[in-house]
Amino acid sequence: MSIFWNVWIIGLTLACLALVIWVLFANRKVAIKDDEEPENRTTGHVYDGIEEYDNPLPKWWFQLFVGTLVFSAIYLVWYPGLGSFPGIGGWTSENQLQREHEKARVVQEEIFGAYTQMSIEELAQDNNAMKMGVRLFANNCAVCHGADGGGNYGFPNLTDKDWLYGGTPEKIKETLLHGRAGNMPPWGAIIGEANVLAVTEYVLAMSGREYDKAQLEQGGKVFKQNCAACHGADGTGNQLLGAPNLVDNIWLYDGTREGIAQSVRNGRANVMPAQKDMLQEEKNPPVGSLRLQSVARSLNPEWPPFWWPLFQRVR
Ligand code: HEC
Ligand code: HEC
Repeated sequence: MSIFWNVWIIGLTLACLALVIWVLFANRKVAIKDDEEPENRTTGHVYDGIEEYDNPLPKWWFQLFVGTLVFSAIYLVWYPGLGSFPGIGGWTSENQLQREHEKARVVQEEIFGAYTQMSIEELAQDNNAMKMGVRLFANNCAVCHGADGGGNYGFPNLTDKDWLYGGTPEKIKETLLHGRAGNMPPWGAIIGEANVLAVTEYVLAMSGREYDKAQLEQGGKVFKQNCAACHGADGTGNQLLGAPNLVDNIWLYDGTREGIAQSVRNGRANVMPAQKDMLQEEKNPPVGSLRLQSVARSLNPEWPPFWWPLFQRVR
């Protein structure tokens, strides 16, 4: 705070206090002598026959007022109120916040501490942890993955056993903490439209769908040359790259003939945002570890949790 504002605030505050004190004491005494008859102690003002008396301030009221003045004096000495004078109590809103955080941390430690020691499997048996997982999912994940985890166009279904990046607790944890970015380059310009259509037939054949036999051989060649590196020679995908399994007839995008051709022609890319901050694993280890584990656990269909019926709708 600059010196000007410092002086301004301190001056204004003290001047106001002084003014109030002066007004109080200046009005305390009655102008009229005590020995006068009570009936005569009027100010002389008469309104429609009603006379104004000039009585002293009631004692209780006067004392209350002095009390507030004393309070404000102590307040201004103890707390920061006078310009940049910090007050002798050392209070700041920052250290108050810190104290409250510390209190909350202790409470959280009591509630969540035990969960830090638990494995994901153990958490799966803990109803409270699982309830938390469901709520976290609804608040943070459902927008993209659907309220029932069933996914959406471009957003993977989390209730099937088809994993882009792997469905073990460790892999899911990795997905959640750091996010994922699947990237399939566009092939249209590189291999040409005829080859796009041919390889589409090959992908349809791999996933057990109806396909055009005439194009199979050419499609197979294109696949081996351009696609196998990521999707695997047998088309089962690569979880290190998030390259989807193309033989299971489960589609992240559009699984129609034209949809697959689109994926090949124009490429596909999508991002799973990292959930590190939401999960607070670093900021608040006990809470973070529970959040992370309960969310991760809630997604692994290998161990149906107690609220499984929620997800059964889509299976
Ligand atoms: C902004 C949208 C969005 C939000 C929010 C989101 N995700 Fe995702 N998630 C995605 C996308 C997109 C992918 C697929 C990424 C890709 O295509 O490579 C994905 C992938 C995943 C995967 C990997 C699936 C697999 O098959 O390997 C898991 C697990 C996952 N998300 C869980 C979650 C959880 C749990 C949350 C909430 C804490 C969440 N996601 C929040 C968009 C989102
Ligand atoms: C650099 C690695 C890479 C190469 C090469 C590649 N893909 Fe992909 N492909 C991916 C990734 C990663 C995705 C998922 C994109 C996403 O998560 O948004 C994908 C998605 C797809 C999809 C959509 C799958 C679905 O479930 O909707 C199809 C179809 C596909 N690729 C076919 C092909 C074909 C055919 C080729 C060869 C012409 C090919 N890919 C080459 C990495 C690759």
